[in-house]
Amino acid sequence: MPSLSPFSSSSSSSSSPSPLSRDAVVSALRAAGCVFAEDEARLILDAADTPDELAAMVDRRVTGLPLELVLGWAEFSGLRIVVEPGVFVPRRRTEFLVEQALAHAPDASVVVDLCCGSGAVGAALAASLGRVELHSADIDPAAVRCARRNVAPYGGHVHEGDLFGALPDRLRGRVGILAANVPYVPSDEVGLLPAEARDHEPRVALDGGPDGLDVLRRVAAEAPRWLAPGGCLLVETSERQAATALDAFTRSGLAARLLVSEELYANVVIGLDPAGG
Ligand SMILES: C[S@@+](CC[C@H](N)C(=O)[O-])C[C@H]1O[C@@H](n2cnc3c(N)ncnc32)[C@H](O)[C@@H]1O
Repeated sequence: MPSLSPFSSSSSSSSSPSPLSRDAVVSALRAAGCVFAEDEARLILDAADTPDELAAMVDRRVTGLPLELVLGWAEFSGLRIVVEPGVFVPRRRTEFLVEQALAHAPDASVVVDLCCGSGAVGAALAASLGRVELHSADIDPAAVRCARRNVAPYGGHVHEGDLFGALPDRLRGRVGILAANVPYVPSDEVGLLPAEARDHEPRVALDGGPDGLDVLRRVAAEAPRWLAPGGCLLVETSERQAATALDAFTRSGLAARLLVSEELYANVVIGLDPAGG
């Protein structure tokens, strides 16, 4: 691969840096295996302020850094979510969980985003709901720091700790939307994930235990104590895990249903508090 230094222009003897052309960026990304090289090139060219910065960004992308970490943000539900190194990059399929939460609890006044990572889900819910009390939580300090940046515009609170243990007790029985995009990859399949996830996202964000459902089961078991009457719990899962996930919800006393988006290839289990009708 040719050097991407902005000083490596073959065209002139000038000593000033010559920016990489759009075509050169596309070619470099394509050669590195980026499937959407044209789109990525546009985003990187827009983001870079100087030729040196452009070359550095292309180099980082070509060596396998996820695009979102190269840019420092990910698009999610129409928002620009800040992503920092070591934090799970929000996936477009998770927008389905947000859509379904809004459809089922459009009047929620208290929202909890458990396992919040960057805080994308809570930020998207708050952006749509308007005035809402938002609490996000994660066990990983890097995620907590990142989430604080993303929920600040909505007055959100971010707590650090293990699942519900991170939340203030006063939220018990008051939560209208409990969103939890938990880690759900079976332990022995983490190594089979694409390199962008395997090499750049922490194991705690991916590994859901032997069948991938350890964290989901814990969330489902405790959720009814936190839901307001009529509140709902939403968790993303895989098609293969859906039946077991539904069972975990039902065992905890929730009225559970599977929601599927063919378009986003997303499966969400929703559990409604039966007391709310
Ligand atoms: C799949 S990522 C999802 C992040 C975010 N909700 C999203 O959709 O982009 C799962 C997140 O769960 C967090 N996590 C894993 N185990 C946890 C636990 N026991 N308590 C709280 N957070 C946990 C990880 O640190 C990670 O940020």
